[in-house]
Amino acid sequence: MATKVWAHRGASAYAPENTIPAFRMAMEMGADGIELDVQESSDGKLMILHDARVDRTSNGSGRVADMTCQELKKLDFSYGMAEYKDTRIPTLKEVYGLIKKSRMIVNVEVKCDEVIYPGIWDKLIRLEREMGMHGRVIYSSFNHYVLQKIRDIDPDARIGLLYDNAMVDPWVYAGYLNANAIHPHCKAALLCPGLMEGCRENGIDVNAWAADTQQDMTALIEKGANAIITNSPDVALVLLGR
Ligand code: G3P
Ligand code: CA
Repeated sequence: MATKVWAHRGASAYAPENTIPAFRMAMEMGADGIELDVQESSDGKLMILHDARVDRTSNGSGRVADMTCQELKKLDFSYGMAEYKDTRIPTLKEVYGLIKKSRMIVNVEVKCDEVIYPGIWDKLIRLEREMGMHGRVIYSSFNHYVLQKIRDIDPDARIGLLYDNAMVDPWVYAGYLNANAIHPHCKAALLCPGLMEGCRENGIDVNAWAADTQQDMTALIEKGANAIITNSPDVALVLLGR
């Protein structure tokens, strides 16, 4: 199966990360999927933002967890890109609405590290069902307890174990958690001996992230990664001859 291309925070090399313009651009480029980050507002809405605070990517200040959806929507998330002035933070529901008619899949990264959002797993599964997105979502998180919760609620949910550093025989751990995939940093995917083969033999997908150089993208394609998660989906698509 040919390697898929997932746009990391949307086509974030060209448009403000984790915004509707970045996701729309990924769709127009022909990406197979998008990756996005989910946090929760003080009134329980699933908001798309990488950081627990709004400071880096907006003109506001504070924690997502301390602001309502309406308060967050007042901020400008154009992230210094003048042509995208007044870009608003999307909710996960809005992103599902945008891509529903396409064939793209969504890698929902659940952010539960700096701030823990108790019960976010229930909301995610409920929204996936409500929006008819079943089968098109794969959940990942650096917090694997969150993925365990998702697995408990929905035995059919797809989960990918997100990690940064090298891990020995990750397919064994993936099997223990009944995960569908691992999501290693691309260097871990490329440099750990036998990783691709071990995962393939055990039916575990390898979806590698931070693949932003042509060299890493090419190596992942040659080694048979299932998906590369990149800020520049257009570059990866050209390398794949698409
Ligand atoms: O999901 C892959 C990647 O996005 C994980 O790191 O910090 O970009 O969310 P980060
Ligand atoms: Ca992410």
